[in-house]
Amino acid sequence: MTLPTDAARAYTPITLGPLTLRNRFIKSATNEGMAKGGVPSKLLVEHHRRMAAGGAAMTTVAYCAISPDGRTFEDQVSLDEPSLPHLRALTDAVHREGAAACAQITHGGAFTFLPQLSTRYPLSASGGFNAAGVISGRLFKTEMTTADLARVADEFVVGARRAQAAGFDAVEIHMGHGYLLSQFVSPKYNRRRDAYGGSAAQRARYPAEVLSRVLDAVGRELAVTCKICVTEGFKGGATADDAIEVARVLEAAGAHLLVLSGGMNVESPWAIFGSNMPAAAVDVIENPVIKLATRMMRLWEPKIPFRELYFLEHSRRLRAAVKMPLAYLGGAKSVAGVEQAMHDGFDCVVMGRALIHDPQLINKFRDGVLTESGCTACNECVALMYTPGGTRCVLQTADDPGFDPALNRQPAAG
Ligand SMILES: Cc1cc2nc3c(=O)[nH]c(=O)nc-3n(C[C@H](O)[C@H](O)[C@H](O)COP(=O)(O)O)c2cc1C
Repeated sequence: MTLPTDAARAYTPITLGPLTLRNRFIKSATNEGMAKGGVPSKLLVEHHRRMAAGGAAMTTVAYCAISPDGRTFEDQVSLDEPSLPHLRALTDAVHREGAAACAQITHGGAFTFLPQLSTRYPLSASGGFNAAGVISGRLFKTEMTTADLARVADEFVVGARRAQAAGFDAVEIHMGHGYLLSQFVSPKYNRRRDAYGGSAAQRARYPAEVLSRVLDAVGRELAVTCKICVTEGFKGGATADDAIEVARVLEAAGAHLLVLSGGMNVESPWAIFGSNMPAAAVDVIENPVIKLATRMMRLWEPKIPFRELYFLEHSRRLRAAVKMPLAYLGGAKSVAGVEQAMHDGFDCVVMGRALIHDPQLINKFRDGVLTESGCTACNECVALMYTPGGTRCVLQTADDPGFDPALNRQPAAG
């Protein structure tokens, strides 16, 4: 079976800044739950090696915290010096499979479940009540001062340099889903009256400054991408009109690629996934804090039926507004979906759940073995993130060596 023309183009190389990828498929950052106490595990290496072996041109290691106070969870990757040999084991494994590795660099801002931060009030664009802190007891956030802005930008630079030292080919600066930089973009979180608040372009100013600093530091050697929201998906949140302004600011600042996502962790998680979390999925969450938060969220969420390419309409508007490379993300799961995204002018296709379900999917599409992923967008993988075996698909067999929870207790290197 031959692929339709535009889908076939997804299998051709693309250059993003200093990096050339073998094709246009990128594995999305999906918090793996494979870094106990912040230390990358052997299971994390295997997870990404499988993505690379399955055909993705680049695989993204999720949610690497640039500082101790920038963490949301205890068990997310800490981008600190002790993690470097473990991350090097991961990038080596990915490179051996012919793919590139990207580190998603993040600061959670007020979106933290950790009561043990050094700051009493977690940082955000503006101060006031912190809805995410209801669970952790961090009920109030604090507005970042000019000194805070400079210090955290420095931390992003240090994080990017560490990613480079660990052998990564790209860094993705997380500016979506409600984390610190997203809190600047969002009109709900950003009430500042200085140059960092106001219009969408002004709210994008701090994220763009961080981008510029990271580009100056590593942009000649690494691709520097940004993950943004095409819509925050709730009343009072940033809209597609805002996203267009944000994209223009980031284009002017020189980003090598924008990954177009949407939705916010606290206000509209269903918008991130284009579907709801199943009730049964909440039962497997072992962390009582996350379990309670997820239960509470289910009380007010609207019911969203999944449809493929659920961000397409919003993302097309950004495609029309900027010339820079854009990656389509959101419910891509079939050859027809890839064809559509490429036809609409997107430069790359980013996939999360479809590749968790089957890391071989990209090769299977290419070889005509499959035309559609068996992922049902049930989101049970999201809940499994907090279990000892980490993120995986419930439809896969438990005896698959890639899911051995014992590997998740062993540090990647050594
Ligand atoms: C288990 C799981 C964990 C996720 N964790 C992250 C994360 O750490 N960082 C992030 O930017 N997005 C995260 N996401 C969102 C995905 O990157 C992606 O935006 C979303 O799943 C929609 O893409 P898809 O339809 O291809 O799955 C996660 C998604 C899943 C399913």
